[in-house]
Amino acid sequence: MREKLLNLKNEALAQIISAVDPEELERLHAHYLGKSGILNQISKEFKNLSGEEKAETGQLFNEIKTAITDTLASNSQASNPKPQNLDLSLPGIKPPQGHLHPVTRAIEEISSIFEKIGFIRVRYPEVDWDWYAFESLNMPKSHPARDDWETFFIDAPEHPKLGKMILTPHTSSGQVREMERLGQPPIRMLNIAKCYRRQVDVSHTPMFHHFEGLVIDQNINISHLKGTIDYFVKQFFGQNRQSRIRPYHFQFTEPSFEVDVTCDICLGKGCKLCKEGWLELGGAGMVHPNVLKAGKIDPEKFTGFAFGWGVERTYMMKSGLKIPDLRLLYSNDIRFLNQF
Ligand code: DAH
Repeated sequence: MREKLLNLKNEALAQIISAVDPEELERLHAHYLGKSGILNQISKEFKNLSGEEKAETGQLFNEIKTAITDTLASNSQASNPKPQNLDLSLPGIKPPQGHLHPVTRAIEEISSIFEKIGFIRVRYPEVDWDWYAFESLNMPKSHPARDDWETFFIDAPEHPKLGKMILTPHTSSGQVREMERLGQPPIRMLNIAKCYRRQVDVSHTPMFHHFEGLVIDQNINISHLKGTIDYFVKQFFGQNRQSRIRPYHFQFTEPSFEVDVTCDICLGKGCKLCKEGWLELGGAGMVHPNVLKAGKIDPEKFTGFAFGWGVERTYMMKSGLKIPDLRLLYSNDIRFLNQF
């Protein structure tokens, strides 16, 4: 009996000390001290003991009961402290509040800016055929520009007409798909999607996002493109930022441009960070007649412009944001993401 009681004490105290929440302590209280708890059950066995034994064991029993009661009481106080002086005027404890990922926020902001001038947001497959990503965009198989995209190819059988299956390296793959969807202009597409390229360093992640604009109608010209770029730049970056277009080369546009925005630090004057006052946003141009033809649109009747820029890159160029390593955006480190 004595041994049984001592074992019980050890076990009970160990459990009580390691209990972490109030419910657990309540359960232990009922288990040991409750009406049909272990201690009560043991006390029923006392009647079988002799007088001397009864006195001795009874004393031990009482000691153990007191130890369990006291430990329970002190532990439940520690896990559920009762304020002695409750000051109702103290400010409350603010629960932590989450927010959307900065890239999701940027996508939402970009969508709403273009929505206001009539662009329709669409989505096309992230795993698509070579035809939509390259061939239909006036990039023949042998063209060296295809290497620039560092494409991921899917290990799957080739389509007899559409070629290999790939992870889309840019949202331009949505251009001909949109022409096919609508059949005829007017087209005002905003395609925002994940893109994939075999590049990893401080300014590249293998998965990133592009937003692609495509406008096709009668008499669309470069001034429409420049007007749209200016509108976006002022809305997204602020009224004090300027944009410019610089001649460039892309297979799917003619003429092609690279779009720059004035630096957020020096606003175009030139500083240590940007050197010449301008930061590069991305590519744009007038849709190449061959691309219109691939989408079964008559280039004699219709013209269009397109642009395709990185969401992460564009977001980083916004005032006041300096992200030293783009990969941080996808490291899921809450300490980093909390800043935004
Ligand atoms: N797709 C190009 C890239 O991945 C960007 C681009 C350039 C998109 C010119 C366009 C464009 O729509 O007209 O770098």
